[in-house]
Amino acid sequence: MIRRSFRNEMIRERIETLRKQLEYHNHRYYVDNAPEISDFEFDTLMRELQELEKAHPEFADPNSPSARVGSDLTAEFHTVKHRFPMLSLGNTYSLDELHEFIDRIEREAGPTEYVCELKFDGTAISLTYEHGRLLRAVTRGDGTQGDDVTNNIRTVRSVPLRLQGDGWPDYFEIRGEILMPYASFDRLNAEREAAGDPLFANPRNAAAGTLKQQSSAVVARRGLDCSLYQLAGEDLPFESHWESLEKARQWGFKISGHIRICHNIEEIDAFIHHWDAARRELPFPTDGAVVKVNDFAVRRRLGFTAKAPKWAVAYKFKAEQALTRLVSVDFQVGRTGAITPVANLEPVLLAGTTVKRATLHNAEQMALLDIRPGDMVYVEKGGEIIPKITGVELAQRPADSEPFRYITVCPECGTPLVRYEGEAKHYCPNQSGCRPQILGRIIHFIRRKAMNIEGLGEETVELLYENGLVHDISDLYDLQAPQLACLPRLGEKSAENIIRSIRQSVEVPFSRVLFGLGIRFVGEATAKYMAEHFRSLDAVMKASREELVEAEEVGAKIADGILEYFTDAENLRIIERLRQAGLKFEAEERERASDTLDSKSFVISGRFLNHSRDELKNLIELHGGRNLAAVSGNVDYLVAGENMGPAKLKKAEKLGVRIISESDFEAMLGNDGRIPTPAAEPVEKTEQPTIPEQGTLF
Ligand code: IVH
Repeated sequence: MIRRSFRNEMIRERIETLRKQLEYHNHRYYVDNAPEISDFEFDTLMRELQELEKAHPEFADPNSPSARVGSDLTAEFHTVKHRFPMLSLGNTYSLDELHEFIDRIEREAGPTEYVCELKFDGTAISLTYEHGRLLRAVTRGDGTQGDDVTNNIRTVRSVPLRLQGDGWPDYFEIRGEILMPYASFDRLNAEREAAGDPLFANPRNAAAGTLKQQSSAVVARRGLDCSLYQLAGEDLPFESHWESLEKARQWGFKISGHIRICHNIEEIDAFIHHWDAARRELPFPTDGAVVKVNDFAVRRRLGFTAKAPKWAVAYKFKAEQALTRLVSVDFQVGRTGAITPVANLEPVLLAGTTVKRATLHNAEQMALLDIRPGDMVYVEKGGEIIPKITGVELAQRPADSEPFRYITVCPECGTPLVRYEGEAKHYCPNQSGCRPQILGRIIHFIRRKAMNIEGLGEETVELLYENGLVHDISDLYDLQAPQLACLPRLGEKSAENIIRSIRQSVEVPFSRVLFGLGIRFVGEATAKYMAEHFRSLDAVMKASREELVEAEEVGAKIADGILEYFTDAENLRIIERLRQAGLKFEAEERERASDTLDSKSFVISGRFLNHSRDELKNLIELHGGRNLAAVSGNVDYLVAGENMGPAKLKKAEKLGVRIISESDFEAMLGNDGRIPTPAAEPVEKTEQPTIPEQGTLF
């Protein structure tokens, strides 16, 4: 017995030593950028730790460095109230306004010091440390409450799980930005493209989306980074912002090195001027500079407005633009026949990535810009994935250039293009004979969000088409494994897997089949609503234009797309074959928990404390109610959460829709359908006043 506990003690010590070593080397690598050991040595130590932890669950620690690899367990994100609200910053694009801001401060407080920082373009996070260990990580949310994403944050290597040095307060928060460096972003999008998944529009969306991933193992692989810029807590022992950041750096936090103390407008301007250009060389995205009063006593005098501190402001850089030559214009034909002109550019560096192509949207847009091959053009990244051309540098236009003539026939099949009323794009109407449309429809059908047929990628679909095996989606269900096995690059095993996946797809629910058909304008959400409303494909096919428009989410444009689809004889033939193949053309009967909400319809809007919006919607269906997307006279109840749009509220009031809270809704259900409130949070401390007490915040 004694020997065993001695051995256990040795193991505990070894675990502790390994944890310390790994955390130290992790910091040297990810924060200091100065590794001392090789990846191989690091991995060896990590493996030893993981094995010991596995054999000795009694020594488990959520902040062990082994947590950094994440787990596949599905996460639930509880809502947590911020102990101090996460305010936003006033911002400006104008140097004059920035100068006025500084003048105002100096009129009130006299000459003072400023700390200039970069404004990181990621997603805000608040980390709480207790006794030097990471206790909790919460997203900004609506500023007063956010989501607990602690397990995901533990995988971000630059976030310390235990603090170094000494002197840290027993309990404090530190706030900053979770960033996705361009290198991680490019890798992630390349992987998603290969897998046929939708791409992230920018690193900010990718960072925010990653934090809400359900599996922390996925987060661990995404290469997030974290830069911290603000401490919050009671009685923090600092007199200035600079001092607090210096200390935080000593405790192991990653604090940007690109910060400066400035004493006047000239120095602030110089900082901004420098970084407006130099940010192009940074490995992560920034969208401005933040100017903050350094001295906490001065901050206290200046105070806050309702939303933001009066002692800090963000100066936003103009969207990065690049000037490059338009070499030529390609025309892409989508699965619905829509034509998109795409610019081929001389490669140019823009916001961290090399841009070679940009969208030109449509003929009108091109005419508006009078854009011509050979022109020097301005490229900008908007919120979308593909950069756009925002202007032409006319001074550099070649003398012999001529206005661009838009195509009149399909570049793929030569069919004359058409324009539908109210549509900016041209279309190729040759649906059944135009290669990219045929392939596009099949590729859409097999997508994960539609029939989820695995093993069939774009290349294989092309191969099947070229070899005359598949011409439309219904042909997939006649395929036999030996036909596939003799195609290049496909062995017997993958052929069998594909066939199995095709056969399994007959189990896919009706709403996804409806989406998979690729009816013009019927997206995933619309298909769900339609399946819910009509309950079967036959009902959809029989519906008149008026009946279609009656369904939620279906407007006139979508209704026309649906009618057009079902008048096409070829489509009807395909549908019959799919029916023969056994695809689900009817919605499944919902199992009801009760009829409490029978024939009542609801709209859910805003954020809620106990449930996500989807949870509420599920509850409504489970108890016999109906979810509607928009407030109208047909709605019985509007369940109003925080932050819901005032327009919706007004409309509901006007129409006499009953407006109820989350707890009213829960009361309607009684205890039956109630999802228990998360047990872990909020902890006592998070329930303290949310108004910042001046003098305690920073
Ligand atoms: S200070 C009281 N410093 O910008 C305000 N914010 O518009 C504390 N941000 O939500 C914020 N870089 O997500 C501060 N160096 C920086 C920042 C920064 C990016 C973000 C942050 C905040 C938003 C405010």
